[in-house]
Amino acid sequence: MALPEGFIEELKIRNRIEDVISTHVTLKRAGSNMVGLCPFHSEKSPSFTVFPATRGFYCFGCGAGGDVITFVMKAENLDYMDAVAYLAKRAGIEMPEDDFQKKQDSGVKKSRILAMNRDAARFYHSMLSKPEGAAGLSYLRSRGLSDAVIRRFGLGFAPDEFTLRSPLFLNHMHGLGYTDKELVGGFLCSASQKNGRLYPIFRNRVMFPVIDTQGEVIAFGGRVMDDSKPKYLNSSDTPAFKKSRSLFALNFARSHCAERMILCEGYMDVIAIHAAGIPTAVATLGTAMTQDQAHIMARYTKEVVIAYDMDSAGRTAAEKAIRLLDAVGVQTKILVLDGAKDPDEYIRKKGADAFRLRLEGSENQFDYRCNAVIAQHNLEDFNDRLACIAEITALLGTMHSDVEREVYIGRLSEKLGVSRESLKNDIQRSKKKKEILQKKEETKRMYEVTAGIGDRINPDKMKYRSAAAAEETILGILLLYPERIAVSVAQNHLTEEDFVTAFNQRVFTYLQQCIKEHSRFDMGYLGEAFSEAEIGCITKMMVERASLTENGDTVLSDAVQRLRAEAGKVKRNAENATIEDIDEIMRRKRASLT
Ligand code: GTP
Ligand code: MN
Repeated sequence: MALPEGFIEELKIRNRIEDVISTHVTLKRAGSNMVGLCPFHSEKSPSFTVFPATRGFYCFGCGAGGDVITFVMKAENLDYMDAVAYLAKRAGIEMPEDDFQKKQDSGVKKSRILAMNRDAARFYHSMLSKPEGAAGLSYLRSRGLSDAVIRRFGLGFAPDEFTLRSPLFLNHMHGLGYTDKELVGGFLCSASQKNGRLYPIFRNRVMFPVIDTQGEVIAFGGRVMDDSKPKYLNSSDTPAFKKSRSLFALNFARSHCAERMILCEGYMDVIAIHAAGIPTAVATLGTAMTQDQAHIMARYTKEVVIAYDMDSAGRTAAEKAIRLLDAVGVQTKILVLDGAKDPDEYIRKKGADAFRLRLEGSENQFDYRCNAVIAQHNLEDFNDRLACIAEITALLGTMHSDVEREVYIGRLSEKLGVSRESLKNDIQRSKKKKEILQKKEETKRMYEVTAGIGDRINPDKMKYRSAAAAEETILGILLLYPERIAVSVAQNHLTEEDFVTAFNQRVFTYLQQCIKEHSRFDMGYLGEAFSEAEIGCITKMMVERASLTENGDTVLSDAVQRLRAEAGKVKRNAENATIEDIDEIMRRKRASLT
């Protein structure tokens, strides 16, 4: 716990959880709490609940839960310390710098890596105007890039240190005061396995800096200039860079893409599209799109045009992207380019205007999917046609907009040779079926969350239901009155030996330790010792007891009595436990499911 005493408290007082959350979720009052649609899973009826009194949130649908810091971590895709920094900034509180950045994996501070990357990017760029970088410059020009575009994207060249008489990059970076450890921690250099000598990772490659929305250089991609492998080398994750949460050129696209964003596979595609006067293109960095990236895109845009390569890998990747973007409520369209394998090649061959026309006509995902379904069936064959119609109706049933559906029904009834009416009826039926399925899914997930995940996190719970229930009441009450934990624990002579299940014991031990170290406890500390799913479970213990706060003392001592009685039983039964007992528990569990 690197943060000074009282810092988290101050942070929470100045960032009321209901205020922070309501910038992401429309909340409605429900008694002393507030509810809304969960931003972390898709749902139709609100099960996301904010508890202003205990400064927590919990979703009864997906099990996400925690305090204002956990919320920001999830909603903004930040790690614990970055979420704290985010809230500090929001409230205009100064971050205690030193402590907070020290404890990164490689021991190298994020701020130091950012400075180092910036200097490295300057070095690579400067090479283009030196004899050592002539090959790089002519390669970039051969790809049709103007000097203005090269400058705008800060492109550069990493010389081949192995063939140079003196190590240019290393000397330069050492000269600026960066240590070997820092160069390795920032993924700019590596130490040789053989002799431990340091060498630069990027050699004889044209360099693409990845710049985040704050304008910081967070990573690099480097491309060879011939057919050697690997074609591209991308930075691995560092304390300053998480590949799964970064998008190339988002720094440029962010302020132009509210209506529409273009998603490409490669650096060169993005740059070609920008150079064509369309500043809304971004790319994932050599990996398939992640859920985090989908969330980030959803923050910036309503619609994503997927402009992946026209090969089968590109198609598969597009399907995945559609699914991920669908889940976060972003509209998707597919850009189909004829006679070129990717946007860069298309623009080179046919020009910017042709590309822009294509973009306007880009198929949306229903067109794309309907055409894919139709292409798979032989409409001349009676049975095949029926199968095709069944797939199409299922697809149209998933459409949100009625107006849009009408348009499609018109178009497809003609294509498939069926009347609008019967197509419409089939869609209705398929929609009903899907809604029922969805309800079932939601109920099932609800069950899994309240029982399943809880069981996974605390596997002992299944064996010792009653003891675990008593423990959770105890912990719930303690968490509701963090300022009184010490007194309550002493009054009830509660020790960790009283706890029967391992997870709950761990939570209790952690509470105790916080009190000992800080003479107080705050939900905000949990992020340092527990996973998100675990914090969800802990929050749930607390929020489910929120109504018991009136007579918390009595509830607590009752629960302690109950736990001790149960613990006694557990001990007595330990020797005579039989398989039947477990079968019985399983049977009861199944019965409660249906
Ligand atoms: P150009 O040949 O320069 O036009 O490349 P491209 O932009 O068409 O790239 P391609 O479709 O081959 O790959 C798309 C993206 O995947 C690139 O921009 C890289 O980020 C990534 N990528 C490509 N090749 C490799 C590789 O060998 N290793 C890794 N890690 N990533 C790669
Ligand atoms: Mn290409």
